[in-house]
Amino acid sequence: MTSGPAEVLPISSDAPEPELVERAAALLRTGKLVAIPTETVYGLGCNALDAAAVQRVFDAKERPSSDPLIAHVDGPAMLVSVAATPVPESARVLMDAFWPGPLTVVIPRHPDLPDAVTSGLPDVAVRCPAHPVAAAIISAAGVPVAAPSANRFSRVSPTSAAHVLTDLADRIEMVVDSGRSVHGLESTVVAFDAGGAIVLRHGAIPLEAIQELVPARALGGDADADRVKASPGHDERHYSPRTATLAVVPGVLADASAEQLAALARTGVRYAGYSNRAPELPDGWDFESLGSIDRIETVAHDLYDALRRMDRPDVDLIILELTGADGLGRAIDDRLARAASSVVALSPGELSDRLG
Ligand code: TXA
Ligand code: MG
Repeated sequence: MTSGPAEVLPISSDAPEPELVERAAALLRTGKLVAIPTETVYGLGCNALDAAAVQRVFDAKERPSSDPLIAHVDGPAMLVSVAATPVPESARVLMDAFWPGPLTVVIPRHPDLPDAVTSGLPDVAVRCPAHPVAAAIISAAGVPVAAPSANRFSRVSPTSAAHVLTDLADRIEMVVDSGRSVHGLESTVVAFDAGGAIVLRHGAIPLEAIQELVPARALGGDADADRVKASPGHDERHYSPRTATLAVVPGVLADASAEQLAALARTGVRYAGYSNRAPELPDGWDFESLGSIDRIETVAHDLYDALRRMDRPDVDLIILELTGADGLGRAIDDRLARAASSVVALSPGELSDRLG
């Protein structure tokens, strides 16, 4: 706990002011917790080499110690302070292509890294953010910065300084405010085995872009059951609103008969779908547009803000329509399904059962 609410420090995202960057960096160097803007979401940063500071991050988020953090670096020179060298070849190829940027690689760790960062695992997750403010702060701090998303555990990730304050204001020393996050979805987390790359978490870099460079597959299927179990961060409930939430496959209401729609009528239901395929809703339901499927980057950018906005006392139930799209759609659908604790209705009949 801290002695008061976090200081909010605005820093220009295009031209970060060096003296402001240094203030944030100095706090990080002395073991303090500083929420920083990245191009994906806001991260809750601390000095990755300071075990006590890392422990405070877990406490502030109420995150289980079994769920490891991403170490953020400013480039290859800092990478060697958190990872073992040489880096596996497939990881090297992807880092060359996507760093700085929203790609996190899971690779063998450096022996001196505090165990808490990796939850004792032999591998560390590493990312080199492209956001000018994140990059400047890490460089000025001169140490790798361990940073999970700056939300309370299992809640929706923050894409603005205001979101961070809602969750963590009394628990951290500073929030650097550089406006809305660019992507609005977390980085893509990739591990490696003899067969190439395995996407552990879909994110801002689509699977298809990775497959252009190295053999790659998404974690899933029977062959991966053991790996899913051993993989941290695979709780079904995650990115969750407090309001009861369920997900539906695309077009589920378009298939509903007039009788089925009438039977679903009630108030307090918020149906989040897409402006270019808005369905006919049962009486009393309100529509919330997540944007147009034809502009999927914008859907991603605004997604977490929409989830937070819908999560209000006068809303009894949130229904989230999956995109059914590939590319970024996979990451969006992953987050929507988890927001609904993986409760996905596949037909109008199933939907009424869930509501009943
Ligand atoms: O975009 C992002 O990745 C943001 C920004 C702040 O960089 N960070 C972020 O961190 O989303 P977090 O902690 O919310 O999610 C990190 C994910 C978790 O699912 C965690 O389980 C996984 O990465 N992870 C971390 N270290 C790992 C490891 N050694 N092996 C496997 N998965 C790991
Ligand atoms: Mg997170």
